[in-house]
Amino acid sequence: MARVVLGMLGLGTVGSGVVKLLAQHKHLQLKKIAVRDLAKERTTTTTCPITTDVNEIIDDPEIEVLVEVMGGEEPALTYIKRALEKRKHVVTANKEVLAKHGPSLFALAREKGVTIFFEASVAGGIPLISTIQRGLGANQFKAVTGILNGTTNFILSNMEERGLSYETALAEAQALGFAEADPSADVDGHDVAYKLSILAALSFQRFVKPTDIYRQGIREITPEDLALAKEFGYRIKLVGTARSTTNGKETSTEEKSLAVRVHPTLVPLSHPLAAVSGSNNCILVTGDAVGEIIMVGPGAGSLPTASAVVGDIINLESALKLPDFASYFQPSITSQWSNTASSDDWVSPYFLRLSVADTPGVIGTIGTIFGNHKISIQSIIQRGVKDGRATIVILTHDVREGDMNAALTNLKECPFLDSVASAIRIYKAG
Ligand SMILES: NC(=O)c1ccc[n+]([C@@H]2O[C@H](COP(=O)([O-])OP(=O)(O)OC[C@H]3O[C@@H](n4cnc5c(N)ncnc54)[C@H](OP(=O)(O)O)[C@@H]3O)[C@@H](O)[C@H]2O)c1
Repeated sequence: MARVVLGMLGLGTVGSGVVKLLAQHKHLQLKKIAVRDLAKERTTTTTCPITTDVNEIIDDPEIEVLVEVMGGEEPALTYIKRALEKRKHVVTANKEVLAKHGPSLFALAREKGVTIFFEASVAGGIPLISTIQRGLGANQFKAVTGILNGTTNFILSNMEERGLSYETALAEAQALGFAEADPSADVDGHDVAYKLSILAALSFQRFVKPTDIYRQGIREITPEDLALAKEFGYRIKLVGTARSTTNGKETSTEEKSLAVRVHPTLVPLSHPLAAVSGSNNCILVTGDAVGEIIMVGPGAGSLPTASAVVGDIINLESALKLPDFASYFQPSITSQWSNTASSDDWVSPYFLRLSVADTPGVIGTIGTIFGNHKISIQSIIQRGVKDGRATIVILTHDVREGDMNAALTNLKECPFLDSVASAIRIYKAG
């Protein structure tokens, strides 16, 4: 079998896994690896030459495929562009670069007759991208929804199961290597937003600017929220969604608008998303023909992510023999960014936890304010009366987000209200 010659940028968590897996695929020849610091102690042993000069890989005409597993926006973006300019195929795990620069990168790949493979960029070891791209290619997609960040799922699982505060659960995740020293990419939802942008491009043909994605992280979630949610039959998860807002109406790609968002969500305990614990990912893909597909598995980690990277290389290798193969593997993604629907128009039920004065008429006033904003209450309880203060927990029926925000603004003007301690959406199938 003809050898495919590879060059790799990065020998960290993912790169080390790739080196291990490539040892089982001798016809894939890793010619050189670039790292930042040659003196760094490494657990991976490889006979492959290692350099700090990326040009030795990008300028080497024998290297057909650039494997980019260094991460971050720059200089990774520049290196990927230079490799495409030199007509090298790219296999990347870099969600940030794709989400922020996908339209121009795929346009460049098309122009140069090469292709970009990116299975590892979303949901690590789960073959989600090839499933959407090829296995489900006959479908019009309605929604892609899921738990796409293992770190936050690990933290929320530990908070719920062991009653830990957010800060303690985060510190434990950091000590175990599940969370970065700067956790903001994970806990503030940026990582999920990048993945949603890529999933939107695959499912709806256009990337969504990460800055246009409604994003709320998990920092404000408390053990009290998790315990109360459980009492009502729910579990709180960080859920990301990209959903068509056309309700099945025929629209051109230009008119298509997507609801793309990531925020904590109460998921019914009986729903498959609620069963995902620890650092796993779970994705629900809804297509008009297939209905709903559920995929669960490791969303990160050295070997699971390398499994996706090396799977891409193997697909690329077999396709390289086909005439005009790059056009076959080009995803049908346009060069324009997608429009996004106003977050005010999102409709879902809500879970609210209010801290109030324990005085007569409070529940009546809340009911009146909600009624004025077309919000219907499904259930309301009062808890923890102490020193004249009480906690009120409310579950609503479906409500437009703009109406809920207006009602909460009115509520905050009431003298009996100490705070809206939590306002969390409840899962609603797309
Ligand atoms: N970790 C996961 O489980 C996972 C899962 C899915 C996707 N990903 C994605 O995979 C990519 C890599 O992640 P990772 O966790 O493997 O990162 P990592 O452990 O931090 O490794 C990054 C590697 O890139 C090298 N590097 C960084 N900047 C460089 C530069 N300017 N020039 C040359 N080499 C440079 C580093 O060199 P040194 O070793 O010398 O520092 C290191 O070997 C990221 O895009 C990430 O989002 C990771």
